[in-house]
Amino acid sequence: MLNKIHVPPIKIQGIKTKLVSWIKENLEISEDTRWIEPFLGSGVVGFNLAKKNALFADINPHAINLYNRIKEKQINSVIVKQFLFKEGKLLSEKGQEHYNYVRDRFNEEKDPLDFLFLNRSCFNGMIRFNKDLKFNVPFGHKPERFAQAYITKITNQVKYLELSFSINNWIFKCQSYEETIKEAKKDDLIYCDPPYIGRHVDYYDSWDEKDEMKLFELLKNSGSKFILSTWDNNQYRKNEYLDTIWKDFNKLNKEHYYHIGAKEENRAPMIEALILNYKPKEKKVANLNSDKYKQLDIFTENFVKIAINT
Ligand SMILES: C[S@@+](CC[C@H](N)C(=O)[O-])C[C@H]1O[C@@H](n2cnc3c(N)ncnc32)[C@H](O)[C@@H]1O
Repeated sequence: MLNKIHVPPIKIQGIKTKLVSWIKENLEISEDTRWIEPFLGSGVVGFNLAKKNALFADINPHAINLYNRIKEKQINSVIVKQFLFKEGKLLSEKGQEHYNYVRDRFNEEKDPLDFLFLNRSCFNGMIRFNKDLKFNVPFGHKPERFAQAYITKITNQVKYLELSFSINNWIFKCQSYEETIKEAKKDDLIYCDPPYIGRHVDYYDSWDEKDEMKLFELLKNSGSKFILSTWDNNQYRKNEYLDTIWKDFNKLNKEHYYHIGAKEENRAPMIEALILNYKPKEKKVANLNSDKYKQLDIFTENFVKIAINT
């Protein structure tokens, strides 16, 4: 179990903050292992689990730009604090009008500080771009969003990254997963969290069967250890690819609740899966090919362990 999960300053739909400890429990990694993460998103997984060498990449340039600017010391927690204080004051005075003004400015100038401001004041902390590559998430309707405590929280999140980026050899690239996986070497560990297939919400987040097949081929032939985060099933649907292309690998399951809006009753349960091309030490995991698995695939990790042990 990780004592504390460090949450990065960027939010994204599908963020894996709640799954970091579970992923850590199943890692096989040494101090020298290079962490390769082709679908970085917010970075919460790799920033908590990577050792001193890492390659972090994403096709969306904006979080990558922000992280590169922090790494190069062009943006730091003091700059972030001053910026959010200034823009937050204008937001509290003008509300939606100022949010729209910053969004237009960001869509013209692509400044990472504007991206941070929008990401932390937009509806549900989403990242979504239209086909013209314009950020189009509406205002979260909280003009007082950037209260002192919230600014301090974000500033501390940036401070933690400043420290991590300065003591580690972490590289950030804006590129597609194909290029990133091709850079992996035998002793690296690749952690993949691609967009969930068929749940397309964003220009940078489209994912179809062709991508899933390509990812499968690249991971299978990479020669590296890999972990794939994906979904297994919810009350309506089942991820068919787990019974087809991913079936020869090992699988772990865990139940996870996604929040849709603020109401408690809108919590949507989802069975998450980790697909691994190795068996984590001292763990019995379901092999997707076995008959036992076929009876178990809607259960949580604990059920899988109990059933396989008996
Ligand atoms: C589910 S999110 C990753 C979330 C991340 N694990 C976290 O916890 O914050 C998927 C990410 O894949 C990126 N992505 C989508 N298509 C991609 C592609 N073809 N190559 C690289 N990254 C891609 C998206 O921009 C998004 O950031």
